[in-house]
Amino acid sequence: MCGIVGYVGRRNARDVIIHGLEILEYRGYDSAGLAITEGGRISVVKKTGYVARLAKATERMGGGCGIGHTRWATHGAPSEINCHPHTAGKFTVVHNGIIENFAVIKRRLESKGRKFLSETDTEVAACLMDDLYKGDPTEALAAAMKKLKGAFAFAVLCADCPGEIFLMKRHSPLVVGLGDGECFAASDCSAFCGYTDTAVFMKDGEIGVMGEGVFTLYDGNLVKKTVRTEKIGGGAPCGQPAEDFMKKEIFETPAALRDTVNAVFGDDSLKKRIIDIFSKNDKVVMTGCGTAYNACLMGKSLFERVLRVPVEAEFASEFRYKNPIVDDKTVVVAVSQSGETADTLAAVRLAKSLGADVVALTNAGRSAITREADLTLLTAAGPERAVAATKSYSAQAAAFLCVATVLSYDMKTVEKIREEICCLPSLASKALASAGEVKALAALYGKKRSVFFIGRGPDYALAVESSLKLKEVSYVHSEGFAAGELKHGTLALIDRDALVIAIVTQRHTAEKTLSALYEVKARGGKIMIVTPFDDLIAENRFDAVIKTPPSSGLTAPVTAMIPLQLFAYYMSKERGINPDKPRNLAKSVTVE
Ligand code: G6P
Repeated sequence: MCGIVGYVGRRNARDVIIHGLEILEYRGYDSAGLAITEGGRISVVKKTGYVARLAKATERMGGGCGIGHTRWATHGAPSEINCHPHTAGKFTVVHNGIIENFAVIKRRLESKGRKFLSETDTEVAACLMDDLYKGDPTEALAAAMKKLKGAFAFAVLCADCPGEIFLMKRHSPLVVGLGDGECFAASDCSAFCGYTDTAVFMKDGEIGVMGEGVFTLYDGNLVKKTVRTEKIGGGAPCGQPAEDFMKKEIFETPAALRDTVNAVFGDDSLKKRIIDIFSKNDKVVMTGCGTAYNACLMGKSLFERVLRVPVEAEFASEFRYKNPIVDDKTVVVAVSQSGETADTLAAVRLAKSLGADVVALTNAGRSAITREADLTLLTAAGPERAVAATKSYSAQAAAFLCVATVLSYDMKTVEKIREEICCLPSLASKALASAGEVKALAALYGKKRSVFFIGRGPDYALAVESSLKLKEVSYVHSEGFAAGELKHGTLALIDRDALVIAIVTQRHTAEKTLSALYEVKARGGKIMIVTPFDDLIAENRFDAVIKTPPSSGLTAPVTAMIPLQLFAYYMSKERGINPDKPRNLAKSVTVE
């Protein structure tokens, strides 16, 4: 994981790097560091904590060439010593990924007398490059690449070549930006898209050398390759909002839903390609990680209901190791906000190798997953910076609903569902109006040690996602499960301290879910309901109620998620946590 940035040119490299690292902080934020070449000397500064601390410590640095890193610890605690860049001899290195055979290489280098300061795999890679160096850094990188196992994107300074940055990639993303007399490198082009709109997406096994306005690309045997550029969306990325990104992004849900629905319904050629790819296959598998997997649960429920076809939902991290039952009659829908989650990418590659068609449902149009997929469905949710996915989840659910509609033969029903889908943005706006009440409930329940979410059908999918949201940003213990399962074990955990939240958007199972809730009440637990049904609220006694906008059983789950995301957000604030950067997490997990 982690984010890397590099710059060579006439600007102050420190400023470009800090700007890029702030944007890439979603990839990890337990420490940050940079190295700048100035006057032939490489200066390294490292700080634990957010990039802001590094920014303060480097305010006076000059120089036009440097590399930077924001870390999500894999090997070694988030200390200053383990923070990147790592220097070994002439090589100073930042790295995103995991070197799987670092222990073997380390032992070999130690037997040659090499000493290590940190516990990281990255320092071992730097040392290996230095050990293999015979005067040409590209040769050292190419030789190192042959010995390194695992995933990596490296940006490297060599003390003998001031004004140049050496790059190398396998599996982890690395993009180069080309400007007028300057070059940028980053894990994601958002880090430099405010400076240039011309990018080179490096491929696995490639080595690159950046100088002032010159970029040379090689394959792993140092044969020169043609540099193929692509245009990326330019313009400065969004600045810090008045409050938090998480709140801002939840409030952007109506626009995310509107744009996603328009992107599917407004594109006839996309609709045709959706029909082509699904109709030539017999089986549908949906896969993803974290919130994206929870969106698969929602997608499964919506597809089965609208299309009456069975759908499997699999964690991508399980799919990739389970010898999946997938063949050339299977379509695998890979869901990923970032489009670069390592487990999802590996699942996609495995599915392709087994002959399956892959549809990527992602928020990142130029991501790794889109490059492997047969068809890309874009959620038009816009950039999401908070670690906890919110508007992207709602957009994924809406996209599943749109696709199910496109695939349905039942024209009468389809027309009705389409109308309902088009109302999603206004329903979402109504759901947001509950923010004040939700905030008050978070103040009331902010000290709870355990919160359980229950639901049936699509509400079960919501329960699982609501629970994940709460855990991620408030650190409250939580579980989400099928309402009928409460009595089969978890009820033993219910006491006066427990809060159970029932999500009830489906009329036909409402009474059954309420029975489960009363079993909680009878044992002293607090009960909350999230529902659009006025009669249920009027006829029953709950400790707390969140009323969601009334709509059909297909669209109600999409909008019911909004107050539940707000609940997690306000619980986080109530408990004094930064919801945008919860401990131990990162938005984009590019390692196993
Ligand atoms: C990380 C994030 C989660 C996210 C998951 C999948 O674990 O912390 O919030 O849901 O990755 O991310 P993706 O980009 O593939 O949707």
